[in-house]
Amino acid sequence: MNINPVSPSLGATITDIDLTNLDDGAFNQIRQAFWDHSVIFFRGQYLTSEQFITFAERWSTINVNRFFKPLEGFPKIAEVRKEPDQRSNIGSSWHTDHSYDQIPAMASVLYAQEVPPIGGDTMFSCMYATYDALSDGLKETLSGLNTVHSSRHVFGNRRGETDDDNRLDNQDAAQQDALHPIVIRHPDTGRKALYVNGNFTTHIEGWTAEESRSLLGYLYEHAARPEFTYSFQWEAGSIAMWDNRVTWHRALNDYHGHRRLMHRITLDGVALSA
Ligand code: SIN
Repeated sequence: MNINPVSPSLGATITDIDLTNLDDGAFNQIRQAFWDHSVIFFRGQYLTSEQFITFAERWSTINVNRFFKPLEGFPKIAEVRKEPDQRSNIGSSWHTDHSYDQIPAMASVLYAQEVPPIGGDTMFSCMYATYDALSDGLKETLSGLNTVHSSRHVFGNRRGETDDDNRLDNQDAAQQDALHPIVIRHPDTGRKALYVNGNFTTHIEGWTAEESRSLLGYLYEHAARPEFTYSFQWEAGSIAMWDNRVTWHRALNDYHGHRRLMHRITLDGVALSA
């Protein structure tokens, strides 16, 4: 296989590989690329839903999403769908998946089924590079801080505010709050990364939301700087797999009038530590 980085901060495309037929050596190479580049991309993959699940389960247990409708007959696969007549999409602002869980997801795997003729990219940002670029003084200030993450304000009370009908009608399931270090150490690479995001982080532990706003706001602006990001253009048959501990992503909503349909699997991780 060939592994080619796509930007200075994160991402690599892996070509000359068939994900339905991976021996242990090839799988280990892919896993190393995932640790090295934080997001890996494949093109021209034609997996059945069973094969998609088999590929995902090689990495970890599947974390069944509580909020998005599953693919019919496959509860382990969530649909990320936008229809031509819808205006809002899923995941349009920078975030990382499941940071509101006590044990956040290791990774998400997104498989493009149908894509608009142009637009609908997914952008990624690198939380290692974001952390590395902070001053020693700010790194020192952050060390030892924890932040609270929640799903309540995102999935708990927004029904009716968007034309997105892809969610399960289960706002009551949005009860998760979790405390995580603001800077984590990746469980496999040992590298430090910033672990906050504008969607799910509500405040710094022991600070009010208002007091937290300017520091978190600064970190969000810093982490979205173009030099830390990469925008992936989808084709049907493309797969992106990202490490939720050390990346952000956002789905661009610039293709009204066209369908975009993705299948997503999210994978269990381990407890995070500083
Ligand atoms: C998501 O936030 O998981 C969706 C990303 C995408 O559709 O590009």
